[in-house]
Amino acid sequence: MNAELKREISKRRTFAIISHPDAGKTTLTEKFLLFGGAIQTAGAVKSNKIRKTATSDFMEIEKQRGISVATSVMGFEYAGKRINILDTPGHKDFAEDTYRTLTAVDSVILVVDCVKGVEEQTEKLMSVCRMRHTPVIIFINKMDREGKAPIELLDELEEKLQINTRPLSWPISQGQTFKGVYNLYTSALNLFEANSSRISETLVKIQSPQDPELEKWIPESFCKKLREDIALIEGVYEPFNEELYRDGLLAPVFFGSAINNFGVKELLETFLSIAPCPYERDARERTVFASEEAMSGFVFKIHANLDPNHRDRTAFFKICSGRFERNKFYYHTRLKKKIRFSSPTHFMANEKSIIDDAWPGDVIGLYDNGSLKIGDTLTEGEELQFRGIPSFSPEIFKLLENHDPMKTKQLDKGIRQLTEEGVAQLFVQHGNRKIVGTVGELQFDVIKFRLEHEYGALCAFTPLRYKKALWVTSDNKESLGEFLRRKSNLIVFDREDHPVFLAESEWMLKTAQEDYPDIEFHTTSEFK
Ligand code: G4P
Repeated sequence: MNAELKREISKRRTFAIISHPDAGKTTLTEKFLLFGGAIQTAGAVKSNKIRKTATSDFMEIEKQRGISVATSVMGFEYAGKRINILDTPGHKDFAEDTYRTLTAVDSVILVVDCVKGVEEQTEKLMSVCRMRHTPVIIFINKMDREGKAPIELLDELEEKLQINTRPLSWPISQGQTFKGVYNLYTSALNLFEANSSRISETLVKIQSPQDPELEKWIPESFCKKLREDIALIEGVYEPFNEELYRDGLLAPVFFGSAINNFGVKELLETFLSIAPCPYERDARERTVFASEEAMSGFVFKIHANLDPNHRDRTAFFKICSGRFERNKFYYHTRLKKKIRFSSPTHFMANEKSIIDDAWPGDVIGLYDNGSLKIGDTLTEGEELQFRGIPSFSPEIFKLLENHDPMKTKQLDKGIRQLTEEGVAQLFVQHGNRKIVGTVGELQFDVIKFRLEHEYGALCAFTPLRYKKALWVTSDNKESLGEFLRRKSNLIVFDREDHPVFLAESEWMLKTAQEDYPDIEFHTTSEFK
């Protein structure tokens, strides 16, 4: 293998920090950037976060999303590694965006609030990770608050997230008396001064829990408890198995307080030593290895600029193999044509800059004038289509009604382009009824506004009763044909013309599954 390619791959760690809103994702991201020297003071990332006060005002949110495009990917160097953090919108209504971003990472850090434990969005995000066997590290945050006990939290994680866990750090007390964490991975202790705005100096380094030095720094009763806890953990848990973690079967758990910088360094450094560098990825035709010399990659996100004076779109492209070069012609496998990019951008912390080349694991921004769609693959000529960028079942469904018959063409074009950008999903029913499915209500406001302002089309949405979309397949063609005929009022077609069953309730789905045992119902658009 090309030595330069090998070196660049082994340097890279591409991951996402995910959480239920408010668990501390932004704070943790910021601390990582501070450690990496990518930012000097706290607050730089925060200002890009969608503010709570703006959650019902979508134009305000879009404005803020516009600002955050530069920080959608945060790259920085730390301890000789190139770290790419892919930002995911915390807002629930943009969950589909988050799910798609997860298709572009090699691992994730999942943040859980120790007071609230596993929340609704945590479970959903974890189920997406499980689907792809993504390696997950869990960070239990806010240990400076009186939350649930660590052991109780570990049980809850295993039960609700359906994954085996293994603590790799352990908290010294909790709540007001929280002192820091003992690193079980390196058997060492760093005590930090609580500090919310900068990285403070290490106060003490202790090499083992037996070290009498410990008593000098923390009350005796805490030392005793820590020693007991460590003995218990080492007795109960198997030694940490890196392979199981990388196969997505075991989640190492860290405790800490992001705001006070407790446990963050332990997390970051252990993450760097155990998290995978870019690895192989399945395409429809074959498995593609990061180490292959020929460049390949895919688009997982498109960001449109809502400013009417700058109607450009940025496609987020993840490089899967080889070296990407500026101005080189690449093969667009869906359109079967060659295209080149004169100003691909890299994202470094909160800056965007034009780059000449990029490597597997990197995410670059490609200027797009409408030829790129989510899921598109670029290669050096090979016919490849990367898998694993599915559509997920929406949760809200509405009928799209045209309010200006003179603008039918504009409406059709607009809704097609917006759904290609991933704003929502479009399903078409017989008689050309168009049903729009989203994860959040906000998306309907976005669509309505953009159709009117960008395409000059007026529309309205009528709520429908459906709760879930299920892609249907069967080995038995006759059964499938009969199912589609009998249920025709509940059957729609997605943009690839695949049949989708709309269920009004879990009960209705269960009945259909019982009545038609030959039919397979899939919750995402991608299935073997
Ligand atoms: P998110 O991106 O996951 O939505 O969470 P974010 O980091 O914004 O954190 C949510 C709230 O939790 C913030 O408070 C933040 O300061 C607080 N927080 C983060 N880490 C810790 C921690 O370790 N301990 C404690 N006690 N709080 C923590 P906020 O009041 O909502 O925002 P702000 O006004 O402080 O910015």
